[in-house]
Amino acid sequence: MQKEIAIIDFGGQYTHLIARRIRNLGIFSEIYQPEDFEFKPNIIGIIFSGGPQTVNAGDAYKIKWSIEDSPVPLLGICYGHQLIAHKLGGKIASGRNKEYGYTEIDCINDSGILADTALRQRVWMSHGDHVVEMPDGYEIVASTDQVPIAAYRSADNKIFGVQFHPEVSHTEFGSKILDNFLNICTDSRDWKVDNFKNELIETVRKQAGDKDLLILLSGGVDSLVAMELCLAAVGSDRVFAIHIDTGFMRYQESANIINHLHELGYNNMELIDAEDKYLSELKDVYDPEEKRLIIGRLFVEIADEAISKFKKDNILLVQGTIYPDTIESGDSAKSAKIKTHHNRVAEIEKLLAEGKIIEPIRDLYKDEVRALGIELGIPPELVNRHPFPGPGLAIRILTSDAKPQIPVDNAEKAKLKELFNNSLLQGEILPVRSVGVMGDGRTYNHPVLFSYRSNSTHNWQELRIAARKAISSLNSVNRALFAISGQNEKYGLKKHSLSKNSCDQIRQVDHLLMQRVKHIKEIWQMPVVQLPLFDKEGRQIYVMRPVTSIDAMTADFYEMDFEFLQELVWEVKKMDFVADLFYDITSKPPATIEWE
Ligand code: XMP
Repeated sequence: MQKEIAIIDFGGQYTHLIARRIRNLGIFSEIYQPEDFEFKPNIIGIIFSGGPQTVNAGDAYKIKWSIEDSPVPLLGICYGHQLIAHKLGGKIASGRNKEYGYTEIDCINDSGILADTALRQRVWMSHGDHVVEMPDGYEIVASTDQVPIAAYRSADNKIFGVQFHPEVSHTEFGSKILDNFLNICTDSRDWKVDNFKNELIETVRKQAGDKDLLILLSGGVDSLVAMELCLAAVGSDRVFAIHIDTGFMRYQESANIINHLHELGYNNMELIDAEDKYLSELKDVYDPEEKRLIIGRLFVEIADEAISKFKKDNILLVQGTIYPDTIESGDSAKSAKIKTHHNRVAEIEKLLAEGKIIEPIRDLYKDEVRALGIELGIPPELVNRHPFPGPGLAIRILTSDAKPQIPVDNAEKAKLKELFNNSLLQGEILPVRSVGVMGDGRTYNHPVLFSYRSNSTHNWQELRIAARKAISSLNSVNRALFAISGQNEKYGLKKHSLSKNSCDQIRQVDHLLMQRVKHIKEIWQMPVVQLPLFDKEGRQIYVMRPVTSIDAMTADFYEMDFEFLQELVWEVKKMDFVADLFYDITSKPPATIEWE
């Protein structure tokens, strides 16, 4: 019988990632809801996922079996780590010593799940609560500066808890830690990743039946890979593609997509120019979720119009939705909604429920989509392009009615000042807000802008630590920025809307920066963001956010050479509508890659 690791889903953003990592390590894994889980003889180990809840809220999940009597080894991650400790009589503190993103742990005992790692190692955190008192008979095996109980184990080496996330790619020895856990569960592995490509093609063929397929090409890698799967499944005569130019595409992007596809020999496609429609509906919209919902609705309306040219009953829509699009939209039973991705609005959900949409790559992460794309024969230069979100520049232009609902709090300003009193860095909380993900929940808060007080040498580590300090100490801050040119001027918030002009301007800045950084292979994606902050001459503030990542579930900011960055800032400031260019120095978590 095939061995299995059961993953109990408490609504963590990374539950699915745990499942994939375990499969990649050679054991089949399956995700269960806590109330549905029952032991089966082939289950050789259990993992409790993270989640947005706090065990102190009194609504800790009911688990039908007793943890101490677990017949198989058990690993708790983040919320799971807290839940196990709580159920066994330990204590959890809420809201103190929060940690988001990169943290270092010191291992007190480096055997068990920490075997063959390092005494001090880089891990990824995302939590507000933490364990403060161990259950009887349990031993602490790792600590951080903030949190003394960062990992524990039972005396018989069968039950473990880790406050950090071993499943994310930014945890230095994450894969080794999971591998060690599997070694504790079993001495042999029997899961082989089959020929995944053929499996997916077969699934599309079955889902399509005798219907034709209409694919909505965004221009990105995901929809291109989904399209290739469709072509392989039903042949080119039955696959039609449309590309909607929303007006929020990057410089010449729509034209490039069409050209690429023609070069690759696809001709069954239509370009729909919907710029005016999008701009008129979004003119006075300032809330990120509202923007996303409108963009998603228009997308469905336009697709519907395109479908009406076909015989409606005989066509299915295909979307290149990938896993992070569904999980961040709150699709998993208990995970919190971070943002509604454009392919997860109500109208799409309805079509999905009616069986009118198929999503061939919805279980894959970006790295897996790319690997599949290469398998399908798509040229690497197309497959390895930076991801670009469906709603495009619309979510990179922060609009404002100049009346922030949450003005910057004076007490928070004072606290920031005090925190950096004796520092080379000074900080200012900006009167705009962006989306973040902290402890598996959504945040919508202010960025803090750092700059050096004098001409001291710049240091990314110093900036990284400052960002972390500000975000964990201030309630109204979820992101940090760096102004390499200093903070010489105050920038005022002004009314700012989505318009042809604002799109053209961000396109220019984005194009220049993308051309200048395209040789840096470590940069996985680099959103350029336009803020509704202006100098006295009416010039505007921009932000660049280069990140490293593998699967978009976690990300770190890229540490650019300072001289090169200074050059970029000078070049961008030559544009007469640019006041300054700031650099985003936040990891994900606590901030998301995009600002909205
Ligand atoms: P965040 O900002 O959530 O983004 O860290 C994770 C990845 O997803 C992309 N993204 C989207 N892609 N539709 C998409 O197709 C969307 O609505 C959307 N929102 C974010 C983002 O660019 C990043 O690569």
